Amino acid sequence: MSETAHIKLGEQEIDLPVFTGSEGEQSIDINKLRDLTGYVTLDSGFKNTGATKSSITFLDGELGILRYRGYPIEQLAEKSNFMEVTYLLLYGELPTNEQYIEFTDRITRHTLVHEDIKQFFDGFPSNAHPMGQLCSLMCTLSSFYPDALNPHMSANEVDMTITRILAKMPTLVSWIHKKSVGHPIMYPQNKFDYVTNFLYMVFGMRTEEYMPDPVVVDALDKLLILHADHEQNCSTSTVRMVGSSQANAYASVAAGVAALWGPLHGGANQQVIEMLEVIKRDGGNVAKYVEKAKDKNDNFRLMGFGHRVYKNFDPRAKIIKEACDNVLNKLGIHDPVLDIAKQLEEVALRDNYFVERKLYPNVDFYSGIIYRAIGFPTEMFTVLFALGRLPGWLSQWKEMRESGEPIGRPRQIYTGPTQRDYVNIAIR
Ligand code: CMC
Repeated sequence: MSETAHIKLGEQEIDLPVFTGSEGEQSIDINKLRDLTGYVTLDSGFKNTGATKSSITFLDGELGILRYRGYPIEQLAEKSNFMEVTYLLLYGELPTNEQYIEFTDRITRHTLVHEDIKQFFDGFPSNAHPMGQLCSLMCTLSSFYPDALNPHMSANEVDMTITRILAKMPTLVSWIHKKSVGHPIMYPQNKFDYVTNFLYMVFGMRTEEYMPDPVVVDALDKLLILHADHEQNCSTSTVRMVGSSQANAYASVAAGVAALWGPLHGGANQQVIEMLEVIKRDGGNVAKYVEKAKDKNDNFRLMGFGHRVYKNFDPRAKIIKEACDNVLNKLGIHDPVLDIAKQLEEVALRDNYFVERKLYPNVDFYSGIIYRAIGFPTEMFTVLFALGRLPGWLSQWKEMRESGEPIGRPRQIYTGPTQRDYVNIAIR
């Protein structure tokens, strides 16, 4: 196989190196392209651009493969837990028992959030969107840990920053939920594991004993694993981009939260349930909404359908669909919205429009139904995605730092006016 890509541009001919990843993915290394030819590449949406080399997550969108550090997502979802997966993503290997205990202890000890942050938090209206609150609170944390602003901090300090962010995020998310329902916040309980503690802070009440149902703990743990990383998606690329300017980890993660909020990315999970509710209220006429999604004059899209890289099936969606049936059965819940989701999937998957465009249900299609069964309000769904994606953001931020990546600074092709002389029109 050729080791170089031969490129002919008019009279110029150049050879560029080809780089092959460990799974055989091939790329043309264009680092020298502009120097050698004066050309840059144009790739809006980065559909054909490998922004980095990464050893964290591998996915093959055609075959529906997703692996964290080589381990198939199906095995991790079935046999591991969110904390072990977090360790794996961050440090590259599964932890030994000793490492696991040290890691989870470390996180447990940092779950308290500085009381002064409540003063910022109290300023939010109770109906403020949870993602806006989370984004601001994450950035606010940086004011309380000024050492983390040093881009040249030691490996231990990096670990401490990562620990603090992982530990405090569930506490912040629980505050946001408590505020939305007008209940007093709950303090973390160090005797609980990560997910149990989170559910305790969200659903526990000061007035009564509370212990989350193990079915719910398992279901949420699985969902967090499935969201934990997804290589260079929009929010992760944002975290790496912001981090590449040597902005601190809190600011970089806050930027990731902002990017995730959009309805085309993590915000889709909230939109899916809202869409299913609309269809239900409209008499469950699934075919009507499939037609609307196909109509180019209608801006309606089937939320939870389609993916930039998965063009066959989303392996996460497959696991979630099964888990969804399981959890609802075990909790004895019948949600009519699940019936509508299944009908919608069936109709869309038989329709040529969706078949030709390779549009399948994605991770967000069924996850909201589980979140709802657990008791989360719809507006909290994207925050739960953020909680799951956090280890991915932090691992990618860490990798970006360790590999000494240059500041991210794409070029553009300018299409505005060419030089012209200023003429005073408005100011007299
Ligand atoms: N409903 C109807 N048509 C769609 C949909 C949809 N959900 N998704 C894509 N299409 C059509 C689109 O109109 C276009 O048609 P045409 O070629 O005739 O112009 C074609 O399929 C290709 O779509 P695209 O927007 O160019 O594809 P993309 O790779 O830029 O976008 C996407 C991917 C996920 C943003 C898009 O499929 C979408 O908007 N889906 C709905 C939102 C959603 O569920 N987002 C969550 C993604 S998974 C969670 C995550 O990782 O963020």
